[in-house]
This record gives sequence, structure tokens and C-alpha cells, in this order.
Amino acid sequence: MHKIYWFSGTGNTLYVAREFAKSFPDAKLHSIASLDRAADVELGSEMTGIFFPAYCMGIPHIIEQFLARVVPQEKGNNGKFIYAVCTSGGYPGGALPMIEDTLAEKGINLNASFHIRMPSNYIPLSNPPNAKQQAALFVKADRAIRIAVIAVKKRRKTRPLRVFPIDTFLKFVSKRAVATLETSDRYFRADENCDGCGLCSRLCPASNISLDDDERPVWHHHCEQCMACLQWCPKQAIQYRDLTATRTRYHNPFVSASELYRVKDDGE
Ligand SMILES: Cc1cc2nc3c(=O)[nH]c(=O)nc-3n(C[C@H](O)[C@H](O)[C@H](O)COP(=O)(O)O)c2cc1C
Ligand code: SF4
Ligand code: SF4
Repeated sequence: MHKIYWFSGTGNTLYVAREFAKSFPDAKLHSIASLDRAADVELGSEMTGIFFPAYCMGIPHIIEQFLARVVPQEKGNNGKFIYAVCTSGGYPGGALPMIEDTLAEKGINLNASFHIRMPSNYIPLSNPPNAKQQAALFVKADRAIRIAVIAVKKRRKTRPLRVFPIDTFLKFVSKRAVATLETSDRYFRADENCDGCGLCSRLCPASNISLDDDERPVWHHHCEQCMACLQWCPKQAIQYRDLTATRTRYHNPFVSASELYRVKDDGE
């Protein structure tokens, strides 16, 4: 059995995870957002992949929590192959070393790790790549996915790139930055274009959005800052500070919003 755990806000990582799954007949996709957050995670399958986006040159809070629930192994991997795949807008920083270090603390060896560059979804910082740039990125990403799939099939071992002491510094900086994301939703608001459809609430992987009596979104300050609400809103009604009114929205064109809904997943 091959388990593929994934977390994705705007579809890039789900796209990559799905492409992987197509190449492994026994692979099953598990949404990390849909797992029971009180339950242990046993990396007991013959193969396990952990797919996630880089946040602030590190790992999203939900991935940190997921890794915290992984059951330590006294006898190491015991022949099981464990790999991680990180998508990013171009600079994943210390994300893959952080996965490797966290698993190592539990006696688990991260056998291989891969980075797949995708369009950046963080539009408070800058506009996403234009259509032509996106098309070029997807061609390169598909190539990188094919190479990574072959490496996993051959159980080829790779280590994430580390540049000491920069990765130690990145770990420190990114952990501090990611810790601020939880309450950064105070900068979201829905403008007059909101029609109360509720898609943002259904999509949120952190169950962080409810609709008030006027059917307008309310954010509850346990945000992953995944950008799903802002990027998928069909009315482009969600704004972040005064930074996004004129910015183009981005979500992966090969993934639909409904594929990101949380569904109960017991991880079996
Ligand atoms: C809060 C946040 C922080 C991010 N930080 C980085 C980063 O440090 N480096 C980078 O290259 N991309 C960064 N990105 C871009 C995403 O990693 C990239 O677009 C990823 O493919 C999104 O995956 P998804 O569509 O599966 O959510 C960030 C995105 C978000 C939302
Ligand atoms: S997805 Fe957009 S239009 Fe729909 S409720 Fe949320 S903010 Fe309003
Ligand atoms: S509130 Fe928006 S940005 Fe925050 S976790 Fe939910 S969907 Fe993502």
C-alpha cells in the first residue's frame, strides 16, 4: 500500500499529488486537512508520501501538527520508503530539511525529498505569473514530477539540499513567521461583491470561516493563510488589507474547488 498525504490551499500541491498517484496503482490520497486531528499518524505503509506547499521558507502549521502526531519508530523505517514533495513559488528555503529533521527526531528516516516549482499563490506580495509564464511553469513541473516518480519507483535515496548554517537560520526565521499566520486573517474582509455563496467557508482547510446572519464570512483567527478563501471566491470579493484589490487571482487550473473540500478521512 502507498499512502499519499497532501495539503493544498490553491490546488498546486493536490495537482502534484494526483499526478504521482496516477503512476502508482496502489496509491491512495489522504487529505491532511480532513484527518482526525486528535488521532496518531502511523507511517506504516510500504510507501508514504507527504505533499505540502512551502510557507515562509518553511512548513505550514498544519504540516507541523501532522508531523507532531506521527508515531515514533524504535526500529527506524523497517524497510518502508518515506518521501516528501514540496511545491513552492520558487524558493522553498528550509521546508524539506525541516521535514527531515522532525521525522529524524522520531527515529524515522526521510528517504527522499523533491521540490516542484509552481506558480506562487501569495498575491498579497505580488501578482501571480501571467498565463504564458504559468504554462511554462506547468511544463517544467510535469517534467520534474516524472523524474521524481521514477526516483520513488526505484526507491532512490536523496537528501534535501542543506547549506549550513543558512538552513538553521531559515528554520528559526520561518517558524517565527509561520506562527504569525494564525491571526493574520484579521486582515481579510469581504467587499460589496460578496453574494453569500459560502464557498470560502466550505473550502477552508482550517474550519476558520463561518457566515454571519447576513451570510457574509467571518474569520476566527486559526488561519493557515493558505489563500484558498481569497483565491477561489467566485466574486473576487475577499481582500487582504488594501493589497489585493487590483491583483489577479490564482488557483491551479487543473484542480476544482470541490476537490479541496474537507471530507471525513480516518487515514485507513
Ligand atoms: C503563506 C504563504 C507563504 C508562502 N511562502 C513561500 C515561500 O517562502 N517560498 C516560495 O517559494 N513560495 C511560497 N509560497 C507560495 C506557495 O508555496 C506555492 O504557490 C504553492 O505551490 C502553493 O500550493 P497550493 O496551491 O497547494 O496551496 C507561499 C504561499 C503562502 C500562501
Ligand atoms: S466565497 Fe466570496 S462570494 Fe462566496 S461567501 Fe465567500 S466571500 Fe462571499
Ligand atoms: S481562512 Fe482563508 S486563508 Fe485562512 S486557512 Fe481558511 S481558507 Fe486558508
